[in-house]
Amino acid sequence: MTQSILTICYLFASITFILGLKMLSNPLTARKGNLVAAVGMTVAILGTIFLYRDEETGNNLHNYGWIFSALIIGAIVGTLAAKKVKMTAMPEMVSLFNGMGGACAALISIVEFLHISHQIHNGADAAYISAIRPTVMIILTGLIIGAVSFAGSMVAWGKLNGKVKDLSFTGQNILNLLVLATTIGLAVWLVVHPEQRWMMVVILVLALCYGIFFVLPIGGADMPVVISLLNSFTGVAAACGGFLYDNKVMLTGGILVGAAGTLLTILMCKAMNRSLKNVLIGSFGASAQTASGTAVQGHHKEISVADSAMLMAYANKVMIVPGYGLAVAQAQHICHELEELLSQKGVTVKYAIHPVAGRMPGHMNVLLAEADVDYEVLLEMEDANDEFKTCDVVLILGANDVVNPAAKTDPASPIYGMPILDVELAKTVIINKRSMKPGYAGIENELFFKPKSSMLFGDAKKVLQNLVTEIKAI
Ligand code: TAP
Repeated sequence: MTQSILTICYLFASITFILGLKMLSNPLTARKGNLVAAVGMTVAILGTIFLYRDEETGNNLHNYGWIFSALIIGAIVGTLAAKKVKMTAMPEMVSLFNGMGGACAALISIVEFLHISHQIHNGADAAYISAIRPTVMIILTGLIIGAVSFAGSMVAWGKLNGKVKDLSFTGQNILNLLVLATTIGLAVWLVVHPEQRWMMVVILVLALCYGIFFVLPIGGADMPVVISLLNSFTGVAAACGGFLYDNKVMLTGGILVGAAGTLLTILMCKAMNRSLKNVLIGSFGASAQTASGTAVQGHHKEISVADSAMLMAYANKVMIVPGYGLAVAQAQHICHELEELLSQKGVTVKYAIHPVAGRMPGHMNVLLAEADVDYEVLLEMEDANDEFKTCDVVLILGANDVVNPAAKTDPASPIYGMPILDVELAKTVIINKRSMKPGYAGIENELFFKPKSSMLFGDAKKVLQNLVTEIKAI
């Protein structure tokens, strides 16, 4: 009876995961989607704690003290972290949490391998060893992918908060491939000889090294691909746990995360115009170390808030290009106010969203949704590029790499090949940022020196507040 109730709990949780994921695909339903999936997860966890029965002994879980202590500590840490984290530090936190998922999957594998190893050393016969091999294979798959995901996510976390610098050296690709091939080779050997338990430690260390080595050289603007790839790794590692325990909800959750992460990786590769092969062997972004692009020369011109306000208030169409700086300034609400004000004056206002703008997938969508910007006015890159030629003014708010023409014109540039927003097609381009400093990829931007471009210096929030005041007075 209790097993049937537990199965129903798992079924319910699986359905909420699928529904939640579906709802996450639209900013209007995303918050609810998150809650729906969280309710499902809570039911699955509580169901497991109270209803699970061991098949052989019929015993339920014990160690409630440990389980609930861990749950309470985790809940407190998670809640505080989520409440305290600044919007701009969100990508780092996502990386950190992703790494924890990978670490959990690796720990499950370690515990299960030690369990099997214990049985073998207590005199299991050849038939047991032969029967246990598929399980060992799943355990080692979870161990390797989980460890790579954990180590890689920790490096990604360090890179996103600026504590870890890109590192690449000659022959790095070959070293990465060697480490990966050795890890897989030793894992196959351990499947054949599961009694050699010390080998698990070697595999774990190598997988951790591969995770570090493969993310370390990725620099410039290429991090989005690796972040989504690590995400999918964690999902696959969790799914291995589901296989291991024959736990349907773990399997469904893992597969959903793995599949969603893989799709996101493909989208990010497309957005960056890179191949997945390069990411997997870790050569990706190595050029960022060796090339900083051709030096940009010229003079930039500045524009005042009053002139910018005038240009926008009398325009037919204004396209806003949000970037990481808008998130830093937390200027999304005042940006929406500007958009509404211009719309009231009969100006058509739209937003051009580059897929890797900001520091995490969908960063700009989340930011603008927070300010209740209508989803209908957000244009994806291809659609925006079709519309720039009909725009009188493009207002760039804290974006840099995603509008850098070097991606199209300078083969020496680390972002060469990345599709960008073709803002130059518009009549006038106004760029708001605080200085002439480069963006995430660390390269200069020729756009700032073009005849059509004018710099509107200052913190995005302050500048937008001034723009709103000026436009109201027109
Ligand atoms: P960036 O190229 O990083 O440029 C942001 C610009 O905002 C900076 O040049 C900065 O110039 C300006 N800024 C910072 N604070 C500001 C403020 N308070 N007010 C006004 N401006 C401010 O951003 P982007 O164009 O959005 O491109 C994103 C980059 O991050 C890409 O290279 C992308 O590959 C990379 N990346 C993306 C992701 C994901 S998944 N989206 C993950 C990791 C890395 P000042 O300092 O002069 O103000």
